[in-house]
Amino acid sequence: MEKDVDINKVVRQHLEMEQFFSGFSLKGKAWTPEPQQQENNMADAEKAAEPAPLLSQESKKGLEKIAEEVHQCRKCGLGSLRTNAVPGEGNPNARIMFVGEGPGADEDAQGRPFVGRAGQLLDKVISAMGLKRSEVFIGNILKCRPPENRDPRADEIINCLPYLQRQIEIIEPEIIVALGAHAAKTLLNTTKSIGQLRGQFHEYYPGLGRPPIKLMPTYHTAYLLRNYSPENRRRVWEDMKKVLTELGLPIPEHQKG
Ligand code: URA
Repeated sequence: MEKDVDINKVVRQHLEMEQFFSGFSLKGKAWTPEPQQQENNMADAEKAAEPAPLLSQESKKGLEKIAEEVHQCRKCGLGSLRTNAVPGEGNPNARIMFVGEGPGADEDAQGRPFVGRAGQLLDKVISAMGLKRSEVFIGNILKCRPPENRDPRADEIINCLPYLQRQIEIIEPEIIVALGAHAAKTLLNTTKSIGQLRGQFHEYYPGLGRPPIKLMPTYHTAYLLRNYSPENRRRVWEDMKKVLTELGLPIPEHQKG
């Protein structure tokens, strides 16, 4: 039997969480980069002033080719059910890649990842980290929406995963953030629960001859919306702080302290 849902409570909780992730800022914090980091930042600024390097154009082309293949893909039954395939989008040189489970209704309608409620919350988390959506890459394990947003099936994951693996190979992010159990378990090839996995770095192996990539599992933003608690919200923020620290980036402070 379905439990009665207190709509007012759910709306209040969603607002509270969105306000929390909107409340971070680097302003007012005198952030002095470490000398080594300062050099890196100057190098980054110099790089930004130069025309896009050949490598980044190649990466862009590589990602576009994968996206074309995804749009043509009929490797599993989801291909005939979709409105749009959702290859993923973002910066070909991203230092961070966020990986979710698969498109929902909004993503299927628009052909873009994380554009529904869970996506709006992810946008807030990204900007709470002091980053822009255009600086990261956002993708999914599955590129097509499973009907009624059911869990991905093993055969669908097996068919679809090579697209994501190739995206990771091209982007070579420093950190992958796996959003939720499906992304974390698939990329780490483990049956451990997201509760056991989150909060610490693991290693994703991109293939022979390539160095492992640090992977931080955390709760999916859809899970946060469904299972709101200040504790879960805090856990996700703690995980993101570890990601920022690992990248040598400053940690924004909450305006309410
Ligand atoms: N949930 C996901 O896992 N991916 C999306 O793109 C949207 C919602």
